[in-house]
Amino acid sequence: MSKKKIIREPAEIRNREEIEALKQNDTYEKPDNWYLSPRMVETFILGSDETYEYKVKDKTKKIKISRKFYGDNVLVQRSIITLASDRGLLLIGEPGTAKSWLSEHLAAGISNNSLNGIQGTAGVTEDQIKYSWNYALLLAEGPSNKALVPGPVYVGMKEGVITRFEEVTRCPREIQDTLISILSDKILLVPELGEKEVLLANKGFNIIGTANTRDKGVNEMSSALKRRFNFETVAPIGSVEEEIEVVESQTKNLLGQDKVKVDFSHDIYELLVTTFHELRQGETTDGIKVNIPSTVMSTAEAVSVAYNSGLYAKYYQDSIVKPEHLALNIKGAVIKDNIEDVQKLNQYWDLVVKRRGSENKLWDQYYNSKKYFS
Ligand SMILES: Nc1ncnc2c1ncn2[C@@H]1O[C@H](COP(=O)(O)OP(=O)(O)O)[C@@H](O)[C@H]1O
Ligand SMILES: [Mg+2]
Repeated sequence: MSKKKIIREPAEIRNREEIEALKQNDTYEKPDNWYLSPRMVETFILGSDETYEYKVKDKTKKIKISRKFYGDNVLVQRSIITLASDRGLLLIGEPGTAKSWLSEHLAAGISNNSLNGIQGTAGVTEDQIKYSWNYALLLAEGPSNKALVPGPVYVGMKEGVITRFEEVTRCPREIQDTLISILSDKILLVPELGEKEVLLANKGFNIIGTANTRDKGVNEMSSALKRRFNFETVAPIGSVEEEIEVVESQTKNLLGQDKVKVDFSHDIYELLVTTFHELRQGETTDGIKVNIPSTVMSTAEAVSVAYNSGLYAKYYQDSIVKPEHLALNIKGAVIKDNIEDVQKLNQYWDLVVKRRGSENKLWDQYYNSKKYFS
C-alpha cells in the first residue's frame, strides 16, 4: 500500500523553512512569548525580496520570503499591533477575501501554531470553547486537572498562544459573550475544581476572530463584545494584476501538491481573473456596465475554478488548460443560489466576451465555450 499523504498542512509546516530563516535573523524587539517579532511576522505575511541566510545542521541555506497576503499592507501591520495589545482582532469582510488565510498566517508567525482554534457554528457550546471533561475520569475520580479537557481558549491562555475563532458571528450570542471576560480580564474560572480555581492567561495569548459580512451576524454582536475587539475590514483584491498573481501561485501550489503537471499559461489565468474582477465590479476595464451576480465572485472561487480546470485538463484532456475548461467550471462557482445568475453570465459573454473575441483568439475560444453553461 502506498504511503498516505496529508491534503493540507498548516501554515507553520508549509512554510517551515521561511519561519526558521526569519527566526534566525530576528534581531528586533518582540512581545513576550511571541515566536517572531512584529517586523518579522509582517515580513512573513507580506514577503520580501531580501535573501535570508539560515543554518540547518551546520549547512547554510538561503531563502526568499514569499508574499502570502495581497492588499492593504497597513491593515496587516495594524492587525499585528492589535494582537500585541490587550484587545482581540476581528477580521470582517465578504466571503473569500482571505480572512481565514490571514488569520492562519498571523497565528503561524506569532505563535508558530495556527491550529489552536475553533469553527463557529450555531451548535458551538461554551465547553467547546473553554474546557470540557473526560467523563469516564470525571465519574471515576471526580473533577481534577487530569480529567479536564482543554478547549482552544484554555490552551491559548495556558500556552500563551493565539486562539483562532472562525466565523464568530455564527455562534449564538450568549456563547459569543463568553469571550467578554476572557478578553477583558484574561481570566478563566474553573468552578468545578474549587472556588478559587482560575486560569490566568499567559503573555502571547490573544484571539483572532473572523466574520462574514454576508452572514447576518456582525451587527448582532453585543456591544460589550465589540468593544473588546479591534475590527479590520478585509476588502477584495483591488488590482487585476495582483489577483492574477494570487490565483496563479495558489493554483500552482494546489496542483503541485497533487503532482498534477499541466500546461497552464498566464493568459488563461488572466482570462479567468478578468471575468471574476469585472463581474464583481459590475463594470469592465473598458467601461461597459454588466450585471453583478448575487454570488460572491471571490478570489477564492477563482482559485477553485482554476484548480478544477487544471485537474480536468489533466484527467480528461491532453494536460493543456484551455478557455473552455474555465467555462466548464465557472458555472458551479457562479450559480449557487440564484438561477438568474445564469442570465447574468450569459449577458457577460454576449456583451463582453464576444466583442473581445473578434480581436483575440483566446477570448474567441472562450466565447465559443458558452454552450457549457447556457
Ligand atoms: N488578498 C488576498 N491575498 C492572498 N490570497 C487571497 C486574497 N484574497 C483571497 N485569497 C485566496 O482566497 C483563499 C480563500 O480565502 P479565505 O481565507 O478562505 O477567505 P475568507 O475566510 O475571507 O472567506 C485564500 O486561501 C487565498 O488563496
Ligand atoms: Mg473564512
